[in-house]
Amino acid sequence: MAINMVNSVEELMKKLKISGYPDRWNLFNERLKESFVGYGGIYPGREYILELHEKYRLFDNTLDEVLDAAEKLKSFPELMQYILLLDLAMEDRESFKREIGALEVPSFSPGEDPAPYDFALLFTLLSKIPRIDSVLKERGVPTDIRFATHTAYEECLKGYKRKTDRYGFDKRYFNWIQRYIDVTILRVGRLNIEMRSMFKGPVYVLENQKGERLMMMTGVRLHRDGMVLGIPGYEDDEGSFDASFVQTEEYFEGHLVGKNGRALKERTKLPVSDWRIVLSPEDPVLSVHIPAGEKLTPELCEESYKRSAEVISKCFPEFRFKAFVCFSWLMDPQLADMLPPDSNIVTFQNKYMRFPTYSSGRGAITFVFFDRYERLEDLPERTTLERSIKRHYLSGKYIYEPGGVFFI
Ligand SMILES: CC(C)(COP(=O)(O)OP(=O)(O)OC[C@H]1O[C@@H](n2cnc3c(N)ncnc32)[C@H](O)[C@@H]1OP(=O)(O)O)[C@@H](O)C(=O)NCCC(=O)NCCS
Repeated sequence: MAINMVNSVEELMKKLKISGYPDRWNLFNERLKESFVGYGGIYPGREYILELHEKYRLFDNTLDEVLDAAEKLKSFPELMQYILLLDLAMEDRESFKREIGALEVPSFSPGEDPAPYDFALLFTLLSKIPRIDSVLKERGVPTDIRFATHTAYEECLKGYKRKTDRYGFDKRYFNWIQRYIDVTILRVGRLNIEMRSMFKGPVYVLENQKGERLMMMTGVRLHRDGMVLGIPGYEDDEGSFDASFVQTEEYFEGHLVGKNGRALKERTKLPVSDWRIVLSPEDPVLSVHIPAGEKLTPELCEESYKRSAEVISKCFPEFRFKAFVCFSWLMDPQLADMLPPDSNIVTFQNKYMRFPTYSSGRGAITFVFFDRYERLEDLPERTTLERSIKRHYLSGKYIYEPGGVFFI
């Protein structure tokens, strides 16, 4: 069979109408050809996908769609070569992570079948899965967690479907899966738990001898109402202030975070003799992510926190996390005014000490309404939460994505 092959990465990108790509990728001219020829001009083949699926149980609910897209992809040799190019580009993790923000992905033209394009980014990831699995195995990660972690690809396919009515993968999911390639995330029961080497939240957490904890803001400019300046609804800089955190031999000084999750305008001093830092922005933490799906019951969450702390301490002993953190629309204290106090979401967020962070104000729109609606007026009202969020946005307010932290 003749292999329909481009001569260079430059030619490939021209054919795919991709205007910008990193210079580094031109180094792959030869390896790209070798790889395409090596696969006989078809990637990923049906047998290859079936073998991966059987070994790692990847696509329990979507196997037919994945195989169908791979079959259709056979008529798109350039797209196949793009998939193999990304596969090569991803090998150098640090370089690729710098490049990923500007990644241009080919998309279908009107009248074309979207399936090969919808699945292209998923297919770039397949070859990484055996190595991810070996690392998890070598680390002694329990089998159920290992297989649960491999459901991430299908979770993304389903998430894409909620937005577009078609299974597939977009750049957001592709970025998300980079954590799996770096083996810094595990699915532990109800939650995804990411080993985040630096917390990077704009707060220090301090603790006194009685075990009481307070948070002091750092490194951001704050709106006069105690939110991070510049987020939607808090753009007006009149009365704004810098959240500088000062540490001397005698005291810590800065802007405390109040019970409502907002920073206080006045500065406070806490004596070093009574208080110590238990979490700083540079510390390693476990970052909690909440996959869509079953209810977020307190029992499932507690089980997941406990087990992930145990498994990560045992299997990744060098990762000495200081706390659990979460950055999500689910952390917004305003949700407590919209939902019953014993609802899963309110119980979930109450476990965390909340603090202000940069927020797009779009998290709830993405995760409740899947970015499907252009106009706020068209948002559906099928649940208590949907009704309240819609009313909230229609009155010009936002749900933010604050940070939260707790210690185990
Ligand atoms: C997290 C999640 C599982 C919580 O759901 P839950 O356990 O049902 O939460 P609660 O019991 O507190 O829900 C209270 C009410 O809000 C509704 N609700 C909760 N999450 C909702 C969502 N994402 N979309 C629409 N309605 C939702 C519930 O149906 C319930 O309404 P009802 O009483 O009219 O039935 C759910 O929001 C979800 O699947 N989210 C998508 C994933 C996500 O947001 N991850 C975080 C990314 S940063």
